[in-house]
Amino acid sequence: MTQTTVEKTPVTLLGLGAMGTALARTWLAAGHPLTVWNRTRPRATALAAEGAAVADTAAEAVAANSLVVVCLLDDTSVDDVLSGTDLAGKDLVNLTTSTPAQARARAAWARERGARYLDGGIMAVPPMIGVPEAGGYVFYSGSPRLFERHRRTLGVPAGTTYVGEDAGFAALHDVALLSAMYGMFAGTAHAFALIRDEDIDPAALAPLLADWLVAMVPAVHRTAEQLRSGDYTKGVVSHLAMQVAGTPTFLSTAEQQGVSPELLTPYFQLMRRRLAEGGGEEDLTGVIDLLAVGAAVR
Ligand SMILES: NC(=O)c1ccc[n+]([C@@H]2O[C@H](COP(=O)([O-])OP(=O)(O)OC[C@H]3O[C@@H](n4cnc5c(N)ncnc54)[C@H](OP(=O)(O)O)[C@@H]3O)[C@@H](O)[C@H]2O)c1
Repeated sequence: MTQTTVEKTPVTLLGLGAMGTALARTWLAAGHPLTVWNRTRPRATALAAEGAAVADTAAEAVAANSLVVVCLLDDTSVDDVLSGTDLAGKDLVNLTTSTPAQARARAAWARERGARYLDGGIMAVPPMIGVPEAGGYVFYSGSPRLFERHRRTLGVPAGTTYVGEDAGFAALHDVALLSAMYGMFAGTAHAFALIRDEDIDPAALAPLLADWLVAMVPAVHRTAEQLRSGDYTKGVVSHLAMQVAGTPTFLSTAEQQGVSPELLTPYFQLMRRRLAEGGGEEDLTGVIDLLAVGAAVR
């Protein structure tokens, strides 16, 4: 064992799916002693050739090191895997995607078993792991002391962004960002559907679409400012009344192109409701108020 290896925090990693394997490789490449376990053993033995110690059981892997990282399919598999292990005194970092409620419950569950807990939400796909220029990172929430203690080790596979002591916040940030992403994907699906049967090359539309989306992105900062101030007219550029007046153009165009408006109509309905409530001079921020479940069923 080299001097460099001795200085690196040893890591136990449970779960060697696509993501776990990518994580494992970066810690090994960075010289961290790594103990791995996976339900299907061949995935673990493949890493033995790269220097990982392969544990026979999850309990043995947990016993090997104080820092235990878990990257399994879902919260149920975390339960399955960790229930037979002794977590007392361990630093448990759970990178399995979960809901905020599951993360909070898992934090309490870990505390009851004598472990310190950090939850993580991975904002990357496996090829981005260990590639800093790819921009992937992981949201962390839970014990701030635990985050500080392992910040450097956790920063080996991807960037680290700590979002608070509430263990559910990493999951909440993760889902918030991905939800916005699905809104963007929905919009681009509608845009491509509109041109699909025309003599327009999708590859010619793509850069125009990408540039337009990028140009619109700064609007999120205006939305945040309006939410903070409570004044939804602050800095408004295109007020709601004007935007609602334009919606028939979008719906008629969809009809003329033989495209279902089903991805657009829920948002347009919310815009119209806010206008009906007197929000005509506002930005689109009032829609957020209507999304509160109580407001949606009114
Ligand atoms: N892949 C991505 O792009 C991506 C991006 C961000 C976040 N994530 C999150 O990272 C986590 C892992 O994703 P992945 O891509 O590695 O998934 P994956 O390739 O499907 O691997 C799932 C892992 O969970 C294990 N597993 C599933 N059920 C189990 C159970 N009941 N008991 C024990 N082990 C069980 C699998 O073991 P076997 O090998 O034995 O099946 C495997 O190690 C997920 O929570 C995912 O949401 C993934």
